[in-house]
Amino acid sequence: MIRAMPRAATNDVIKGDALKVAPGLQSASVALMYLDPPFFSGRKRRNRGDGPAYDDRWPGGLAEYLAFLRSLLEAARPLLTANGILALHLDWRATHHGRIELERLFGAGGFVNEVVWSYRTGGGSKRMLARKHDSIHVFAAGKDYTFHRQTEKSYLAHRYGFSNVEILEDEKGPYTLSAMRDVWELPALRGNQREYVGYPTQKPLALLERLIGCFSNEGDLVADLCCGSGTTLVAAKLLGRRWLGVDSSAEAIALARRRLSQPDQ
Ligand SMILES: C[S@@+](CC[C@H](N)C(=O)[O-])C[C@H]1O[C@@H](n2cnc3c(N)ncnc32)[C@H](O)[C@@H]1O
Repeated sequence: MIRAMPRAATNDVIKGDALKVAPGLQSASVALMYLDPPFFSGRKRRNRGDGPAYDDRWPGGLAEYLAFLRSLLEAARPLLTANGILALHLDWRATHHGRIELERLFGAGGFVNEVVWSYRTGGGSKRMLARKHDSIHVFAAGKDYTFHRQTEKSYLAHRYGFSNVEILEDEKGPYTLSAMRDVWELPALRGNQREYVGYPTQKPLALLERLIGCFSNEGDLVADLCCGSGTTLVAAKLLGRRWLGVDSSAEAIALARRRLSQPDQ
């Protein structure tokens, strides 16, 4: 039997089921794998009007969803380099399951961060606190994974008590620069933003740029096996990384290709 050569994994967007496409990709080639799969929302995801949609309904319930999630992670894992990073983005519906699956695959020692993406979209319940964050579980395949330390502004209520610390100032007041925390306050995408292409659950470029900036180097291959409208790939391109996207939705692939063909993206 003649086996097909693994598909060259660089600056490519492939339409297909990630579970079937991944085994044909170059193993040990991806420095950062971001996965933003369906969240187990039980909804058919549709854009306003009759735009692109993908199905997040699972007739077999949680068991069917978890079988998919586990298969996706198992398909993604061999694609990572020896020190590659996998970042799994989920919300309250399945994030706890995702973390357990990742610990099973990488060992508890593979855990690097749980990034909490906090946003302020409209809506809420009278019976509970408004659920306004997602989690991104970051796991590393090896101990020598890439991490670029970032800083963030920490605003000061007063100036006294700070020695050997540079105090800076902007329009909001005095601040110091401290190590970036794992809670990221970044606005969710709004329909009037230039980067919005109308894909349901499209993520903001700022989120992916920060993740890619932290956990990869220029020239690295960044992959997303559920790439949707291609946000990860666009962010990778903007930051001088190579990219590889897969999605089962024809609409998603068309949008991703269109975004990547624009010279300023
Ligand atoms: C949450 S959306 C991704 C959104 C994306 N991050 C963006 O910013 O546009 C999840 C995506 O997973 C895709 N998907 C679902 N099952 C898949 C599978 N088995 N293989 C590949 N893609 C899949 C859907 O088509 C959808 O585009």
